[in-house]
Amino acid sequence: MGKKQYKIAVIPGDGTGPEVVAEGLKVLEAASKKFCFDYKHEIFDYGGERYLKTGKTIDEKELEDLKKFDAIFLGAIGHPDVKPGILETGILLKIRFGLDQYINLRPVKLYDSRFCPLKDKKPEDIDFVVVRENSEGLYKGMGEFQKKGTKDEVAIQISYNTRKGVERCLRYAFEYCRKRNKRKTLTLCGKTNVLTYAWDLWQRTFDELKREYPDIKTDYTHVDATTMWFVKNPEWFDVIVTDNMFGDIITDLGAMIQGGMGIAAGGNINPIGVSMFEPIGGSAPKYTGQHVINPLAAICAVGMLLETIGEEKAASAVEASVIKVVSTKLKSLAAGKMGYSTNEVGDLVVEGL
Ligand code: IPM
Ligand code: MN
Repeated sequence: MGKKQYKIAVIPGDGTGPEVVAEGLKVLEAASKKFCFDYKHEIFDYGGERYLKTGKTIDEKELEDLKKFDAIFLGAIGHPDVKPGILETGILLKIRFGLDQYINLRPVKLYDSRFCPLKDKKPEDIDFVVVRENSEGLYKGMGEFQKKGTKDEVAIQISYNTRKGVERCLRYAFEYCRKRNKRKTLTLCGKTNVLTYAWDLWQRTFDELKREYPDIKTDYTHVDATTMWFVKNPEWFDVIVTDNMFGDIITDLGAMIQGGMGIAAGGNINPIGVSMFEPIGGSAPKYTGQHVINPLAAICAVGMLLETIGEEKAASAVEASVIKVVSTKLKSLAAGKMGYSTNEVGDLVVEGL
């Protein structure tokens, strides 16, 4: 039997994106040798620099081209000289929506208690996954200004939730919870007490679907209370499912309790299409070119990518190596405080493989 061949699109992007992507690729290369698979990768220069030179974000043809790959590995999008919103909607959200990556999967896992800002929490206390809806809600960009620029101005921003969109997200979360097979508990995180249209639909759909998953325990928390429980009792959570905006907010808090942006990775998943994996922290312009940024989030993103394309053994080995490096080598997970440079951390993970 021939070796499996994968095609990976790589978008290093802006700021420290290229530095962390280089380390992720180093680990991918080492994993391919050890676990006997082949891949080709192609680098795309989408990001702030190209935008400043050409005025281009991503066009339809470039979006189409990305569909030919098995997966996408993204560094970071965001440039201090580009007005906020342009690159985010023109590149990141355009790919998420254009490739219908309707799930944003964000594991929150503490690898070493030394790096947890919460008192007395251990790795077994912080190990859950947030399933964030990634194609609708407030991110849909629907709304309008009325009487713009006047004293009577009104700005309307709509949270757009379709039954189909909500149902496919919830179904993914139920299936994911079953497959993960940990505490088999799925928590719906919403705001049923105030947002009585959107969260009525979510709650009704959740209640209908749960009858199909009798093996999964279900729970509900309001989003504000969820942030409180993340700090007080993170051990209560197994899999959390929520909408796009709430998912955005709670996963930054999730990243902090697992040790910070240096370690937090996520996947933008289209279960029947092309998915994109990224460290969830931004482009960190102030650390650009200093080789002090933590590449582990990007390396963990490669781990998620490997799992999704079907290289589970390689994925587990990457995670095991990351855990070892985190707990036996690093002084901190924060940029500039690790005790190693960006590429030394990448080398340590490769050695650990
Ligand atoms: C994230 C980011 C993005 C989001 C921004 C950059 C558009 O914060 O991936 O969480 O809001 O989804
Ligand atoms: Mn975010």
